[in-house]
Amino acid sequence: MSAFEVIIYEKLDGIAYITLNRPKALNAYNIKMRDELYEVLGAIRDDPGVEVVILKGAGEKAFCAGADLTEFLTAPSPVIARQARFERDVWGLFLSIDKPFIAALHGYVLGSGIEMALCCDIRLASDDARFGLPETGLGIIPAAGGSQTLPRTIAQSAALEMLMTGRWLTAPEALRLKLVNHIVPRPDLLPAADQMAKKIKSYHPLAVRYAKQAVTRGLDLTLEEGIALETKLGQQLLAQAEK
Ligand code: COA
Repeated sequence: MSAFEVIIYEKLDGIAYITLNRPKALNAYNIKMRDELYEVLGAIRDDPGVEVVILKGAGEKAFCAGADLTEFLTAPSPVIARQARFERDVWGLFLSIDKPFIAALHGYVLGSGIEMALCCDIRLASDDARFGLPETGLGIIPAAGGSQTLPRTIAQSAALEMLMTGRWLTAPEALRLKLVNHIVPRPDLLPAADQMAKKIKSYHPLAVRYAKQAVTRGLDLTLEEGIALETKLGQQLLAQAEK
């Protein structure tokens, strides 16, 4: 069990579970959550005992309802409130970890909630999940990479519609747009995430990590460079296996 205040960190048989744990505030992302996530992500990166990570939200109603609006309201302006979030690069750290992350999404998945989900590799949603980016309506833009990760995941025009009109997606719409990989009934969400994590864990951990790197790093390269990266990673994997 973890000693954190607003997240729960657990580890079982090589699977790490991060639970956003402010259910009364719909798991809104606050400064404390930023700090605790930063700490736990660093530990996950460095812990050879963690092979797969599941990210989920506590409570019935939400995975995460976005940035904590009470912190916004106590700051002189949303822009200044937002500055606080740039002090620790949680998102850069998230995206730099080559271990597989599965997001288990239910209820409200808004703002930073979508952005956290987009830092994960595979997204499972329950049928009650709803997705939205309220930032533009608050006079700000996403600050956790969402303006970059969303259009790399769903079509550019669909991402722009969500950003510019605040349109929310139902779970079936999110599936159709490929924002999520699968929809399952609510009671099946965590079992489905667990089953997938166990499947991934049954494979060679380095093969999984190199495959993730090949895809995520390769997407920023030309095809030729990406193929060279794949070759290099493949050779490194073989060299590791021969040790
Ligand atoms: N920050 C801080 N507290 C939040 C929150 C947020 N982003 N979202 C919800 N909460 C709190 C509510 O203030 C409420 O607290 P209370 O019980 O002390 O009054 C509690 O969570 C439950 O929310 P409530 O609004 O009563 O639930 P609902 O089902 O009627 O509505 C939402 C759910 C998500 C539609 C609504 O809470 C909402 O619009 N939240 C803000 C979303 C947002 O703009 N996020 C910022 C993105 S940048």
